[in-house]
Amino acid sequence: MVVSAAPEASRAGAEVLAAGGNAMDAAIAAALALAVVYPQAGNLAGGGFLVARTPDGAVYALDFRETAPARARRDMFLGPGGRPVPKASTGSALAVAVPGSVRGYAEAHRRLGKLPWEKVVAPAVLLARNGFRVPGGLARELRLERGVLTRWEETRRVFLPGGEPLAPGTLLRQPELARTLERIARDGPEAFHWGEVAARIAAFVRANGGVLSEEDLAGYAPAWRAPDEIRSGSFAVHTMPLPSSAGLVLRSVLAQLEIVRGIEPTPLDAEGYHHLLEAERRAYADRNRWLGDSDCVAVPLAALLAPSRLAALGASINPARATPSVAVDGATAREREETTHLSAATPDGFAVSLTTTLNGSFGNGALVPGVGVLLNNEMDDFAVAPGVPNLYGLVEGSSNEVRAGGRPLSSMAPTIVERDGRPILVVGSPGGSTIPTTVLQVLLRTLAGTDLAGAVAAPRLHHQHTPDVVFFERGGAPAPLLEALRGRGHVLRERDPIGKVHAIAFDADGRLTGAADPRGWGAPAAP
Ligand code: DON
Repeated sequence: MVVSAAPEASRAGAEVLAAGGNAMDAAIAAALALAVVYPQAGNLAGGGFLVARTPDGAVYALDFRETAPARARRDMFLGPGGRPVPKASTGSALAVAVPGSVRGYAEAHRRLGKLPWEKVVAPAVLLARNGFRVPGGLARELRLERGVLTRWEETRRVFLPGGEPLAPGTLLRQPELARTLERIARDGPEAFHWGEVAARIAAFVRANGGVLSEEDLAGYAPAWRAPDEIRSGSFAVHTMPLPSSAGLVLRSVLAQLEIVRGIEPTPLDAEGYHHLLEAERRAYADRNRWLGDSDCVAVPLAALLAPSRLAALGASINPARATPSVAVDGATAREREETTHLSAATPDGFAVSLTTTLNGSFGNGALVPGVGVLLNNEMDDFAVAPGVPNLYGLVEGSSNEVRAGGRPLSSMAPTIVERDGRPILVVGSPGGSTIPTTVLQVLLRTLAGTDLAGAVAAPRLHHQHTPDVVFFERGGAPAPLLEALRGRGHVLRERDPIGKVHAIAFDADGRLTGAADPRGWGAPAAP
């Protein structure tokens, strides 16, 4: 089974399973198809993470996160007076970090896939060449992003012909992207990272004032990491370590909840939510201040995660009152955000949890002429200036400053949960800083016995320390819950939907149940 943000991509994965592929083949086929049918986040020129569990119980984590180009500099987004230049890290050619997805997908397939590579890429090629009908959701996304997208000529030509965003139902063919995918199918990932495609991408970025070079593209390498394993009672939660903050946030929150509530899963009633939000506040304070790319900077993880310290954090939660975050409100005007998560699994216990992104919706908005790929704006995930909030309102420290070759801190949290050594849940989400807290809510609800569809659909809340508010989805959480939180001193702030979860649950006999988030238009598919 595959559950992804677009029915065509889930079907691409299911076709590959029907042809004898395993869960990794299916996940990669779906991810490549998302680059065609879900262009706001599916990508070739972005990056991401995956966590995989093979039927023998081994767990892997692959980091194909983008890196800062060699010519990136700490102050590259600052103008006169050291003030950040508006949109430089989100909407310009400087925003583009070195893409990691193509080599990432190929490396995951090389190590854990089974079918020949061309067969895994083939469904994406067909979708790009023959086209697909633009769904209402994508048409809406194009309208919302119109301002960003119309600045780039090639993006206008493909996605806003005649100046108007593609209407729902339009057949969208992407012949340039099809050619790029065909080359990748035939010659492997080097067809993207070297030669004509890489040269065109680098030339386009250079012509628009960016610093990404052909050498950067040629030099990119994905990295296998030791997955973070968090044990609690009979459960094991496997998730992404640095450069994602997922591991620290999940471990810190779950440990604090255990101090407050014991080993039983936290029910998400008013009291449970108060504990969860307070634990999130404390975990994000550490995240935002201390985390960065541990390949480049010393991150005091052992100290941050020492059991005695987590116990002290948990003990500092006042059950009756919200603790004010030290820093003041640093929220910024919200921009549209898009990432995408897919889950793939087979009944033998092979599971793949994969999150990938261009960062903002459609990345920096630029489609590379002749190549057909949209470029990421992942440089904004670095702290562009101390104390200045990023796209997600996160205020981070120098541990996450721009470093040439370094990876920007992420929140993406592809996760696999086991109970007594057997997989029970594959889960992940988009949503920038809200990703780990979204995963936590689905996890806690599932552990407390809610069915998967209910756990995915349920309204979500979020706290990230700064700004010092509890975010809730417009029209989401029940009024009595919000009242009870207000009564404990939380400041509540309404916002757009939080996350888009695509999850798979295994029941005791290995049967699979998929759930696509009703916040999007994804769907499960199975052969
Ligand atoms: O890596 C990160 O944390 C962000 N670039 C993810 C962006 C994201 O989730 C946008 N989604 N809605």
